[in-house]
Amino acid sequence: MSELVRYELDRGVAVVTIDNPPVNALSPGVPEGIQTAIERAAADAEARAVVVIGGGRTFIAGADIREFGKIVSGEKPRLALYRFLEGIEDCPKPVVMAIHGTALGGGLEVAMAGHYRVAVATAQVGQPEVKLGIIPGAAGTQRLPRLCGVTKAAELCSSGDPISALEAHQAGIIDALIAGDLRSGAIDFALDAATRPISKVRDRHDKLAQESLLALRTRVSKKFRGQTAPLAAIDAVEAAASLTFAEGCAFEASLFNDCLFSSQSKALIHIFFGERTVAKIPGLAKDAPITPIAQAAIVGAGTMGSGIATCYLNAGIPVALQEAGQEALDAGVARIRRNLASAVEKGRITAADAEKRLALLSPTLTYEGFATADIIIEAVFENLELKMQTFAHLDTIAKPGAILATNTSTLNIDAIAASTRRPSQVIGHHFFSPAHVMRLLEIVRGRETSDSVIATSMDLAKRLKKVGVLAGNCRGFIGNRMFHEYMSQAVFLVEEGAEPSFVDDELSKWGMAMGPLAVGDLAGIDVGWRIRQEFKHLEQPGVRYAKAGDRLAELGRYGQKTGKGWYLYGPDRKPVPDPEVTAIVETVAREQGITRRAISSDEVLERTLLSLVNEGAKILAEGIALRAVDIDIIYVNGYGFPAWRGGPMKWAELEGLAAICDRIRALGWQPAPLLLSLAEGSGKFDA
Ligand code: CAA
Repeated sequence: MSELVRYELDRGVAVVTIDNPPVNALSPGVPEGIQTAIERAAADAEARAVVVIGGGRTFIAGADIREFGKIVSGEKPRLALYRFLEGIEDCPKPVVMAIHGTALGGGLEVAMAGHYRVAVATAQVGQPEVKLGIIPGAAGTQRLPRLCGVTKAAELCSSGDPISALEAHQAGIIDALIAGDLRSGAIDFALDAATRPISKVRDRHDKLAQESLLALRTRVSKKFRGQTAPLAAIDAVEAAASLTFAEGCAFEASLFNDCLFSSQSKALIHIFFGERTVAKIPGLAKDAPITPIAQAAIVGAGTMGSGIATCYLNAGIPVALQEAGQEALDAGVARIRRNLASAVEKGRITAADAEKRLALLSPTLTYEGFATADIIIEAVFENLELKMQTFAHLDTIAKPGAILATNTSTLNIDAIAASTRRPSQVIGHHFFSPAHVMRLLEIVRGRETSDSVIATSMDLAKRLKKVGVLAGNCRGFIGNRMFHEYMSQAVFLVEEGAEPSFVDDELSKWGMAMGPLAVGDLAGIDVGWRIRQEFKHLEQPGVRYAKAGDRLAELGRYGQKTGKGWYLYGPDRKPVPDPEVTAIVETVAREQGITRRAISSDEVLERTLLSLVNEGAKILAEGIALRAVDIDIIYVNGYGFPAWRGGPMKWAELEGLAAICDRIRALGWQPAPLLLSLAEGSGKFDA
């Protein structure tokens, strides 16, 4: 028997245990091991039935995603998995799949090849393949509709979201829920099943009917704009109603292959592993102690401060929230209440949960509660002088060992740290607005930040349900330094003749969650303007900067908060193009001697996207980003870059770095030296 799969007899039932930590993926050896065990059980006179169960924390979490990269493009669909599953189904003794943890992707497909499925209430099942840019590739789209009907199966396969064991039971995917010990309950179930005739899922037809999937297709096209796998998943499920099982499997296999060899799947698999890679910090002392964070304090109850407070409350960490004036403090508390109430409305938490979380909040006009806090987060106005004063004060009240974090989005962490007597305890925690919603936490290390403070921050990010990415200290760090270049190009394009809505629409059609100018209106045009004032002394004569943005800010057009910015906003907050902006931009263009002209869609995409790539490569070469994938994860989680394009660096790699260098030159720019050397070498960032 393979080491990955164990076989034992228990009360006349063959118990087959998969033991491939951490998640029992179907790595090479696992399917073979299960197959051998099933054959052995079939021949074992003492076994009346079979139970297949996962060792450790879960049932099978799917195919081994690392293996996908080894499948050569153009290869014919591989049918070994299909035959393996039919082999389980053909076992003459009942096979009961016993599920705990997650049965995902290939894991659920294995489970559906069993004659029965039982699960503990905490288990989850799903076909998450579309999140990797592929569709189920082992008859999932054919067996699932036979268990739960075409519409439900199409929903599950196209959304990729898992469902609870309870929902799966109601839908017919799971036959019984087991209270108490799973193995023992599954054996009881199997002994009982051995008294009944066996039926195979692939032979069932009672739930297969042609159903209209039009509404689902419309919803999915909108939600997964630009992606091919979700619609392919619907096609494959729909085919189950009109084709034989074998024909349906062949259809699924060919769609699976098309998806697997697409750049969308390469991009999404890159993001899947990337989110796990960013948590690993090379060079960090392995024994760096993680400080337990039991209590937090926040300075500033503005939009960011109250959003950050909401995150801590959601993680069950008590927060003292300070503001200078009663009115501002009350407004901050009201914002937190609204954030929690909205989670209740969306059914994410109960009203009782919201009250419990609110009870962890201590608003203060003084600094009550700060002396005992394990971490203090500063979220005051983006002004270096003010932040330095704040930190000098925090240094006098924080307990020894407390972490002092700044939520600055651009300013120099070392200068802020230097205003304290504990620079090793100072770090940047750059949250993204709205802080309780956006998944990214950019963690910025200063020159003297200790390994322990970095390790604690990475750990804390996970507790706050964020993706923490470590960045080095420079103006704007990774995210905003690149965004500055991207936004500047967007404004230049407008100055040169493009309508703001044209620039935004082209980028959002390409896949960005929002266009840059609409993002500017959301974040506040005054924010960029103030930051530019902060760095005015660094401006070089003759170097162009986004003047039109400054002009809007000077006219009080701050964006959504003032009802007008690049667009006009009514109560519904929908951006409406404003002819006044065109007039303002024309004046700014004239002042700069720019002759306005027609701008093509290609030019919009090339200038904005290549500016991101080129700056990203510089950041990488300077060591501000540890790896290209750190940049990609920041852009996907903090800036609405489409995951299915892999983040800016993966996108460039998939386009070909040599071609990217040529395209940058075609714009009259210099490719970053790193891009040039990689283009001549491996063509890959992580080689
Ligand atoms: N293949 C290879 N490695 C996997 C894996 C998989 N399917 N699933 C998880 N891992 C690895 C992770 O990369 C991670 O590795 P490191 O520790 O080296 O970083 C480790 O297992 C633990 O994973 P998580 O940190 O994600 O652990 P978690 O407890 O937070 O989550 C999980 C567990 C819910 C299973 C989550 O890992 C997950 O969603 N995995 C992917 C599941 C999936 O997409 N399955 C479908 C695969 S495609 C398929 O099956 C196609 C088909 O039809 C044949």
